[in-house]
Amino acid sequence: MEKDKIIIALDVNTIKETQRLLDILSPHVRIFKVGMELFYSCGAKAIELIRKHDREIFLDLKFHDIPNTVRNAARVAAKMGVFMFNVHASGGTSMMKAALEGAEEESARLGVDRTRILGVTVLTSVDATQGQVLTLAASAKKAGLDGVVASPKEAAVIRKEIGKDFLIVTPGIRPEGSEKQDQKRTATPQEAMQAGADYIVIGRPVTKAKDPLKVLEGIW
Ligand code: C5P
Repeated sequence: MEKDKIIIALDVNTIKETQRLLDILSPHVRIFKVGMELFYSCGAKAIELIRKHDREIFLDLKFHDIPNTVRNAARVAAKMGVFMFNVHASGGTSMMKAALEGAEEESARLGVDRTRILGVTVLTSVDATQGQVLTLAASAKKAGLDGVVASPKEAAVIRKEIGKDFLIVTPGIRPEGSEKQDQKRTATPQEAMQAGADYIVIGRPVTKAKDPLKVLEGIW
């Protein structure tokens, strides 16, 4: 598998632990995901540290608020120069459009390419019908977002229904033999890619491993 397709979720809460994982993984991983745990504990410091390693950031804060608040949060994300961030597709079309507008305005002001915005369909820890996921993916597309976060189980049907020009990012990845933890709709890295994912997100199976690089090597 192409190394650049793997996004590592840095779900830790100290700079020390972030540093440790970056030291091991940054020579091999292009994009790191910063979610609520790391962002709420270390915020800008963590972002800065990833930048120092010259790596890209997927800011996974899943915005879900009134359009005006999301527009302003999207401006901040764009200003941070993250490669990608996300909003809940269930927040509605006007909220998703506001995110897009906020990011567009800020990126234009800075004279940089607009950061990519993904809609979260249904969390991979929750059971969902394919219809629910497809409806949310279609509304993200209609609002103009660049793609969705969805379970690997739904990647194929989203690709088929929504078409090629739409990013599909799949968490809930479990290499053969690893534990599911709280994830319900999981797949192996290979299954997710075959189903049409552009990127796979993997956290604990790598970050909590005794030898994270060895787990990654097993996926390549
Ligand atoms: O450790 P694990 O591989 O389960 O990590 C998956 C990561 O992807 C977590 O950071 C989680 O917040 C995130 N995520 C998810 N399901 C979604 C969206 C994001 O598991 N639908």
